[in-house]
Amino acid sequence: MSKSWIRHGYNKVARAVGKADPKKQQDIPILKGHPAAQVHAEEALETHETVRSRNKVLKEFKIYRWSPDHPDNKPYLKSYFVNLNNCGPMVLDALQRIKAEDDSTLSYRRSCREGICGSCAMNIDGTNTVACLRPIDADTSTATTITPLPHMFVIKDLVVDLTNFYLQYKLIEPWLKTKKPPKDGREYKQSPADRKKLDGLYECILCACCSTSCPSYWWNPEEFLGPAALLHAYRWISDRTLSGSVHRGAIAVINRGPEGLYRCNIIKNCTATCPKSLNPADAIQKMKTKHLFSQPVEVVGSM
Ligand code: SF4
Ligand code: SF4
Ligand code: FES
Repeated sequence: MSKSWIRHGYNKVARAVGKADPKKQQDIPILKGHPAAQVHAEEALETHETVRSRNKVLKEFKIYRWSPDHPDNKPYLKSYFVNLNNCGPMVLDALQRIKAEDDSTLSYRRSCREGICGSCAMNIDGTNTVACLRPIDADTSTATTITPLPHMFVIKDLVVDLTNFYLQYKLIEPWLKTKKPPKDGREYKQSPADRKKLDGLYECILCACCSTSCPSYWWNPEEFLGPAALLHAYRWISDRTLSGSVHRGAIAVINRGPEGLYRCNIIKNCTATCPKSLNPADAIQKMKTKHLFSQPVEVVGSM
């Protein structure tokens, strides 16, 4: 076993248990404040080093397959082998290669391939993430397992039905509502301080990784809006300075009571899995606080 393989395995375990040495971490200034991206960049560099040191690195990918054309056939995991020397660094690169060279029937969503559109969300080795931001694990002793986002209806292979997810997003009415015309009659001006309030909220790419990792959402997908829609509700509540009024659509969501907001039990799976390092659990907590402060004492006591 080469030194780079040993280091790769050691670093992987150290990161998994939160013991990675910060002095040895790559300094990538543009990724400051984005821990998930920092970890992905380090993994991608390690994988690159490992692959570069060998002529052929055959990696197995076990991919969930199910087709509505054969509804009686049970879903199964199909193995594909990809030579990492001929492949880009991310899991989406491997999927592209498999689809182009091995099996054109494999279905998955993708568009931007750079973590902006949110369409390539799936479960990779037990974690919900977007495939274009997830580096391939170059450890060939184990296969990488890829399945659809959990607890969602599968349309085909890795493609899930997001209709309910988008309806819930629509319910929060995600747009600015103005009460008064702009002071200069032309545009609403936003101060740098007000703009800053949206950091950690506006970056959401609606990938659904958080909602589909949330146990409360698994058991109540119709009633509970889930962390993604609620993070956006908080984004529009925070943007009230422009509209000059409280965002009524988002407030209506808060006032749905237990179904809308209080099904969140602060398990924080959503925050742990977000590929953009956002914190939906924190946004939900802040909305709960706002809601509680707006209630009469006797109502709060009965909650
Ligand atoms: S909060 Fe994160 S995980 Fe959830 S939809 Fe937005 S980007 Fe995806
Ligand atoms: S913190 Fe709330 S929204 Fe996030 S996973 Fe837990 S229960 Fe779901
Ligand atoms: S392809 Fe757009 S986020 Fe992955």
